[in-house]
Amino acid sequence: MNYALIGCGRIAVNHIKAAINNNLHIVAVCDVKPEAMENLLAQYHLEKNMSIQRYTDYKKMLEEKKPQLVAIATESGLHAQIALDCIDQDVNVIIEKPMAMRMVDAEEIIQRSKARNVKVCACHQNRFNNAVQETRSALETGRFGKLSHGSIHVRWNRNRNYYTQAPWRGTWAQDGGCLMNQCIHGIDLLRWMMGDEIEEVYGVTKRQFHEYLECEDVGMAVVKFKNGAIGTIEGTTEGLPHIGVNTTFLHPKIKLDYYFARDYSERSACYDELKNYDFVKFLGIVEWSNEGREIYQIPESIIEENHARRFITQPQKEFIHWDTEHYPVMGLGSIIFGALHFALFTMPKQIFLVGCDCSADGHFDGSTTIDHSSVPLFVDSWNWVKTFIKRYYPKIEVISINPIGLNGVFRDVYTENYLNAHPEIARSECEILSDCYPYLKED
Ligand SMILES: NC(=O)c1ccc[n+]([C@@H]2O[C@H](COP(=O)([O-])OP(=O)(O)OC[C@H]3O[C@@H](n4cnc5c(N)ncnc54)[C@H](O)[C@@H]3O)[C@@H](O)[C@H]2O)c1
Repeated sequence: MNYALIGCGRIAVNHIKAAINNNLHIVAVCDVKPEAMENLLAQYHLEKNMSIQRYTDYKKMLEEKKPQLVAIATESGLHAQIALDCIDQDVNVIIEKPMAMRMVDAEEIIQRSKARNVKVCACHQNRFNNAVQETRSALETGRFGKLSHGSIHVRWNRNRNYYTQAPWRGTWAQDGGCLMNQCIHGIDLLRWMMGDEIEEVYGVTKRQFHEYLECEDVGMAVVKFKNGAIGTIEGTTEGLPHIGVNTTFLHPKIKLDYYFARDYSERSACYDELKNYDFVKFLGIVEWSNEGREIYQIPESIIEENHARRFITQPQKEFIHWDTEHYPVMGLGSIIFGALHFALFTMPKQIFLVGCDCSADGHFDGSTTIDHSSVPLFVDSWNWVKTFIKRYYPKIEVISINPIGLNGVFRDVYTENYLNAHPEIARSECEILSDCYPYLKED
């Protein structure tokens, strides 16, 4: 079967792989960016294969190559038009999800493909996962009886780094929000399992944290199926925020989503640079005593120039601060714990502590030398934090990526680089994380 691919970006590699695995005859690839085609083909050592013709205009490609099957992997907003152009040329199409951005376009694709007897398939590959297939077979044999209700929860992280990789992401015209993009497979599976036809939907979508997007970063819905079952949908791309404190943002490998700081006097120099970074900033005041005496206060002018949010810590007034901040560190009240509260409140499955050493003030810019005599005190303090997390957030796993100095308080993982630099650490006793850079967000 003669096959062509339109759109040679990140997901395209899976399409070429599928074409090769299914012995399709790849006659052409198309992308408006010539280098995208070459990069893609090179990944399969096909860059010298000139029988695969390169096109920057898909209409020309359809006309000249007349493929029998085309896969469409461009940005989502183009799917419907390209699909309709293929159908009009009697070409079968595999359309990346979502098949269209509007219901009317999806209906049009279905109607026109039926009229022209052309096959159309939308990429919902998760239907073929083993567990999903098993569940579906069991469901079809009636093993679960009457289905009362079902839920999907999609809690993923997509941060600014992801959205700046491709400007079409998070736009209404080309991508849609977290429900349309990231949760679509979950929504598809919920429908498929629960009974397809839907009577009513009630939902709310909001953009809670990704202020720079057009679309929502969280969506919740209740779905009433025609067969009487009920479903709930929870989808978000707020799942794994990168939260930093003090001067961490100056580290070249770290790109933050949220930032906490509150001690101005010692580190005032770094605040000059802060305005050049566009993560969400929480700049604080600490009120230590019951009289509300402010001892650390970042000036109002800095709050304004950074469009920052104020947060006030009252370690002696608030139970939760007392528990996680004041008490565990024996009154030191490190900013780390303020940031950790925030992380805990987002209820992630895991928290990765990166570069969170035992220095007294949580500064991790190389300027703070660790006072080794105080390490046992800090380890002890972190043990209190561990107890607190276990008790109040038992489902959250905390993983510390070394170098961290917490001496096994949490589940420690090391990197190859770190172990190579520290031969004194016995490898046999280590858990090695081959690639911790997703957490460091290296470019
Ligand atoms: N099935 C899945 O699980 C899954 C996963 C990731 C992405 N996707 C979908 O795949 C699509 C592409 O995502 P991506 O991350 O690969 O995006 P991408 O930006 O990396 O790639 C899109 C490519 O399309 C090209 N393009 C744009 N306009 C074109 C045109 N008129 N003709 C030909 N090429 C054109 C761009 O130059 C780019 O190289 C999206 O719709 C996305 O929702 C699906």
